[in-house]
Amino acid sequence: MYRPILIVPFAGSGSDCVAAKELGISFLAFENDPEYVEICKKRLSMDESPKEFTHLNKKKEKQRVALLPKKLQTARMLTTVPSLIKWTGSKRSQAGLIADLMPTYNRYFDPFLGGGALLYIAAVPGSVAGDLYEPLISLWNLIQMEPDKVIKDYKNKWTDLNKELDAIDTNKIKKGESIPKIFYVVRKHFNETHDPLDLNFLMRTCVNGIVRFNNNGEFNNSFHLSRRGMTPEHFKKVVESWHTVIQRVEFVCQDYDETLARAEKDDFVYLDPPYAGNKQRYIENLDLERFFDTLEKLNQRGVKWALSFDGKRGKKDLTHNVPESLYKRQLYLTSGNSAVNKVLNGSIEQVAESLYLNY
Ligand SMILES: C[S@@+](CC[C@H](N)C(=O)[O-])C[C@H]1O[C@@H](n2cnc3c(N)ncnc32)[C@H](O)[C@@H]1O
Repeated sequence: MYRPILIVPFAGSGSDCVAAKELGISFLAFENDPEYVEICKKRLSMDESPKEFTHLNKKKEKQRVALLPKKLQTARMLTTVPSLIKWTGSKRSQAGLIADLMPTYNRYFDPFLGGGALLYIAAVPGSVAGDLYEPLISLWNLIQMEPDKVIKDYKNKWTDLNKELDAIDTNKIKKGESIPKIFYVVRKHFNETHDPLDLNFLMRTCVNGIVRFNNNGEFNNSFHLSRRGMTPEHFKKVVESWHTVIQRVEFVCQDYDETLARAEKDDFVYLDPPYAGNKQRYIENLDLERFFDTLEKLNQRGVKWALSFDGKRGKKDLTHNVPESLYKRQLYLTSGNSAVNKVLNGSIEQVAESLYLNY
């Protein structure tokens, strides 16, 4: 009896190979860039555990998966992005699905980078990733250029935190009667200096990993009482895998329009802007007129894009009327429960987000 073999003629960073491995499918992969061969090997040697997904619009979902070879329908959806930068609005749980829908492209552009979930799968040499928030871009640059510094700093802070936690009565910690001081020392330092290494530690140890700022732009989330933070050993692995994948990506701290001015025909852009009208979670509210104008300009230049934008939260329909002339398809992707809402209002709601495609 013959066993099927999956042929991957252009392996790139190896997402198809990783998915085939997870499904136990034999594969034969080809890649002519030695750096990418190394990335593939590294990813294949790592333990990438599958993630579940659900999809609200069953009819459209059927149409979409029908486009893919049968085995890969499941395989691609299972691609897991290691949790590096914990960012509000992260698309980690949807990245595999969005990646399924990407066209072939020359360069990848991510002008609202945040935690860059899709970048892990989509990055190719020459890609451009931008965000307005300077400490975040500084952290990305460190992960690319000086990963050991990031790993060492986290290890030092994590060790201090855990020493403090070991010395405090667990019940007192749970009740909030005794709180480790290091978290608040680092938070104060970050608000004074904007040190990206402090931001990294705060993201990993704050309540539900939610990056939240007050009106003065100060990080104001508290320590997550029942957690000790990712172990330094695990964090090292995560940083190293990302470090390899983002080697030839350009990180820029600038407005999205400036980043997108460089996108050309045959480039692919993934847009994940702060939602319109949502001032609470992001550093800038989105000017819709300017944003739609940018999409129109990309269309005129023949640049393909995918946009995560509005959606549904619990019973609320937050769909925002993206002009129909701008896109060709709209899908709904579920992103689980809203952690932000849980922290702000104490309630859990199902969240589904729209994905608009102009191809
Ligand atoms: C929804 S988040 C992106 C999340 C990301 N896709 C992920 O998976 O983590 C939106 C990002 O856009 C950034 N941003 C807000 N206004 C911007 C602007 N005018 N230009 C560039 N980036 C902006 C915010 O700092 C934030 O990091």
